Order: sequence, then C-alpha cells, then structure tokens
Amino acid sequence: MTAETTVTGAWDFAVELRSDPASAEARAQVLAKPRFGQAFTDHMVVANWTTEGGWQDARVTAYAPLTVSPAAAVLHYSQEIFEGLKAYRHADGSVWAFRPDRNAARFTASAQRLALPHVPEDAFIAALRALVTVDEPWVPSAEDGETSLYLRPYMIATEAALSVRPAREVLFGVIASPAGPYFDTGPKPVSIWLTTSTIRATPGGTGAAKCGGNYAASLAGLAEAVANGCEQVAFVDAVEHKWLEEIGSMNMFFVYADGRIATPALNGSILEGVTRASVVELAKDLGHTVEERLISADEWKDGVRTGEITEVFASGTAAVITPIGRVAWPEGDLTIGDHSIDYGVGPVTRSIRSSLLDLQYGRTPDTRAWLTRLA
Ligand code: COI
Repeated sequence: MTAETTVTGAWDFAVELRSDPASAEARAQVLAKPRFGQAFTDHMVVANWTTEGGWQDARVTAYAPLTVSPAAAVLHYSQEIFEGLKAYRHADGSVWAFRPDRNAARFTASAQRLALPHVPEDAFIAALRALVTVDEPWVPSAEDGETSLYLRPYMIATEAALSVRPAREVLFGVIASPAGPYFDTGPKPVSIWLTTSTIRATPGGTGAAKCGGNYAASLAGLAEAVANGCEQVAFVDAVEHKWLEEIGSMNMFFVYADGRIATPALNGSILEGVTRASVVELAKDLGHTVEERLISADEWKDGVRTGEITEVFASGTAAVITPIGRVAWPEGDLTIGDHSIDYGVGPVTRSIRSSLLDLQYGRTPDTRAWLTRLA
C-alpha cells in the first residue's frame, strides 16, 4: 500500500489505496441487495490523537481490523462515541450527505460529554468526503430506491492504561457500509415492547450523547422485547417511569386524529436525532401542528384505544421513518392503525416518509440547504 495522493482541507488526508480492492463483481453482489451494516467498503478513515501532539496522521487506508492493546481504555471504561449518517446517490450520479453539520455538531457535544478530544466540524465533514471520494463506486445507484452508503464516524480511547481518567491517546475513524432497510421487514410496521423494568438513560447521564454505552444499556430491554414477541423496545424516563423517551435507536412520533403530531421533548436523556429534527420541520411544511412535550405511556395506550392516536412512527438515520403497528407491555397489547390497507402504514407516516426521502435523494428542491455534496 502506498500513499498515492493527499486530500487537503481542514485536515490533510493521505490516501493509501489498497492493492486488493473487491472485484467489480463482488461489489455488484453486495450492492444488488445491501442489508444494514453487514458489508463494508474497501477503505476507512483513521486519525490519531495524543495529548502532546493533537490530531495527526489523518489518512484514508485499507479497511482492516484495528490493532489496540487489551488495556485500551475503550475496552474497559467505554470511552467511545459515534455518529451515523448516509450518503445518497442522486439521479445525476452525484453523492450527497443530509445535514452532516448536525452530525458534526453532535459529535462535538458527545466528545465533550465523554471527555474525548474535539474533532473540528470541517475536519469531520472532510473525513466523510475523503472516504466517499475514494469509495464512490460503493454508493448504491439512484434507481435502487432506498439504498445508500451508511457512514459511521467514531472515536475510541486507545491508550493502554487502566487508571480511570480521560485517555491520552485516541483514535478517530470513519467506516462505510452499503445499506438497505434497517429492518428486514422494510417500511412495514414494527412492534414495540414498552418496558418499565429497564431504563436506558438518567437525568445528568449520557442519554443525549451518542455513545456506545447508551446502546449497551438498551440491549437487555431489547432482549426482553424479543422474548415477548416484539421487535423493538421503548423506554420511559428514569424518575417517574411514566414519560416516553425513545426507542434506543430511534425517536418516536404520535399522529392524532385531528392532524396534530407529537414527539417527546428533548430532556437531556433523549438523543437529539437529526431525522427527528427534520421530521419536525417537514411535518410543519405538510400543514401539521407539531408538539414537543411530555407524552406518557398511558397517553399512548389510551389514545390508541379511543382512536385519538391514529398512527405512531419512529425516526432515525438508519431506520428513516418506520411505522409502529403494535405496542405491547406486560399486561396488554394494542394494534395501531388499519392493517388491512397499505400494510398498515398510515397516510401521515407515508407522506412524511416520502417528503424526507425525496429531499435526501434530490427528487425535490433542497430549499433549506440541508444537503452537502460529498462526491
Ligand atoms: C442511526 O440511525 O444512525 C443510529 O444511530 C442507529 C444505529 C445505532 C443503528
């Protein structure tokens, strides 16, 4: 592997092209039906940081296992953060990211919360551009409907030291994965287990940061959901065990019979989803009143029973807009919406989903300048 070129900008990225990239046939096979997070492109971005030297050695290099010490702080104390965003191929072949400045800003906030160093926001976007430029053939074609290249920036504490303190050596990286629907069911409704036995995040904790620990903390709840015949789990607040927060990997929205839409207000223990923020704006464009407020689990159940809540959906980068067709809890079970038509995907969920996807894939004008060209 040789340093072929350098991409200059906020950081200079040396580009070390791999000598054994996937063959065009092998790549085509992956792109024909990409699943979520299963296959990875030929290259990755890596940069290293030390307290003395700051950020150095930013490069695009062959996708390969990392070598870290078994004493690396990330393995013991979970000093880690990540982001998730997608690169979309437009009809003219160009490749775009959706609101990457929001991911960059959230990465900064997460880094601060986890006592990790700051990646300048222009360097974060330059890293995405450097990787997508090199691995551009891995971005699925525009005709593929809802496929994209999922980008996963992350930062881990690599210092080999067992003292509990902020690490003095850190690695920043970006990997990329051709992505199809997050759920194997595609945009069909998923079932949600409403748990009160496990809590995902607490006031003053790390719930609003995008750190691996939050996802680890959601897994016992997810296992409980699966054991109870559901696909995903919804968490309530840590104090009153009453107010809806989020679904571990997605935010939640409720559609009311009068056209109002409500989502749990950000409270420091809910992740500030980029898709969530975008849905709030797009739903207003579509004429809905959008409320960000406290929503109790009882309001969800009662609203579905009385017909006041007509649709429920989840939002996330990976999951886009995913309809929720059923909610279950230890004492009950309710079906949401009419499953005899349109696979149970309600009209409001459908229209918000389309307006988001149309924007991301360049099928409608980007009036808010939410798109950034990567390649
Ligand atoms: C995303 O939507 O990008 C997420 O972060 C969810 C992911 C953990 C699968």
